[in-house]
Amino acid sequence: MNAWPKSAALLKNNEQWIPGGVVSLNRKADPNIVFEKGLGSRVWDLEGNEYIDYQAGFAATFLGHNDPDVNAAVMQTLNQDSLLMSAGPTNLEGEFARLFCECVPTAESVQIATTGSEATYHALRIARAVTGNDHIIVMQGGYNGWHNDVSCNVISSLDDIGPRVSPGEYPYDSSSAGVPQAHKSLVHIINYNDLESVEYIVKRYPVAAILLEPILQNVGILKPQPGYLQGLRKLADEKGFLLIFDEVKTGFRHALGGYQQLCGIQPDLSTFGKAVANGYPLGVIAGKKKYMDYFVHPERSKRVLIAGTFNAHPLTTAAAIATLKKLSSAGVYEHVEKLGKMMEDGLNEIFAATGRKYFVSRQGSAFCTYFMDHAPVDFHDIMENHDFEYDKVYRRKLIENGIFNFPLPIKQGSISFAHTVKDIEETLEKTKNIVAHL
Ligand SMILES: Cc1ncc(COP(=O)(O)O)c(C=O)c1O
Repeated sequence: MNAWPKSAALLKNNEQWIPGGVVSLNRKADPNIVFEKGLGSRVWDLEGNEYIDYQAGFAATFLGHNDPDVNAAVMQTLNQDSLLMSAGPTNLEGEFARLFCECVPTAESVQIATTGSEATYHALRIARAVTGNDHIIVMQGGYNGWHNDVSCNVISSLDDIGPRVSPGEYPYDSSSAGVPQAHKSLVHIINYNDLESVEYIVKRYPVAAILLEPILQNVGILKPQPGYLQGLRKLADEKGFLLIFDEVKTGFRHALGGYQQLCGIQPDLSTFGKAVANGYPLGVIAGKKKYMDYFVHPERSKRVLIAGTFNAHPLTTAAAIATLKKLSSAGVYEHVEKLGKMMEDGLNEIFAATGRKYFVSRQGSAFCTYFMDHAPVDFHDIMENHDFEYDKVYRRKLIENGIFNFPLPIKQGSISFAHTVKDIEETLEKTKNIVAHL
């Protein structure tokens, strides 16, 4: 019997008008639950069930759902009769840009778009304009958005991409039909944590940029090996391509200055989204002024176009300003680190008692339990060793018991500032009971 009949009926209704019934197809999962309310660390579904939420709107609501300060800033902007759409510069975008550059040390200037995908799109365009090269390198298992350059190889099956190769590259396993063949030939997908493969590609093709999440957080929490990010920086400097960190998921979640602040590696450009406006839609391209200035390059042939009717929309920008102010002032990172550590320790204790293979991977507030006996080093390691079936059942049982992690194996859990010690205790207690009976 379906435990979520109202959700199922709503999806069925929407399917009449929307292909698939959802507007971002990664929102389709089993079970497909309709959530109608969220506050702090909790969400409620259409059936009236309450959950402690670790999905956090695909990791966007880092302060928690409906953060009162962020919502107040949005309401204030509405109440001021601000023009929602107008012409020319705005005070809000200037204030946001200043605050952003104060938070992220490598951001000498920024441009503002509406989504993370737009941000990676623009960053790659700058890299191509700067270098005059067309080829790019991305990571196997990484996700950087939906456009032609990056719509590939997120959680590909090994049947499609073959065994691990090093040095070397993988076929462009498209997550979308309609990507021109010519475009695919410009995109090189390599192993994460594998510097030799970068050298291999750079020797063969004129590369504009390497674009990567510094921690691969769309296949759990897959961390860089010591020296890897340093090695990328060195190769980029030696070979003359740009190093772009996609911090859409890591940015503001792990530190005010992004993961780059923690790892001490300075990318040439970086992209942000998600947590930067706590669930309101904003994408940011940031970096060295000499590169960002390609948006206003005096030579027409080198100028990179940025445009968008809704770029820096006042409500979103007000939300982002309030988010950055709160992140800068409230002891947020200490709080989520404490809860993250509690979660990591608790999960370790629970799974150690089962005798099952497991590895709890965590960075600050983001965590993932792999059902394999070591920290993964790359995507193939996960595909070859992780127990996907167990992960699926485990997540399902958690959901049935009021703990919402996304019901797809190896997806990140996200703790927010709104979570409490009690939330983590309740989560661990329920997890312990579930695991004992699995
Ligand atoms: C690392 C990363 N980059 C880019 C994107 C794309 O962002 P958006 O969905 O806002 O277009 C995502 C989305 O999940 C992401 O995780």
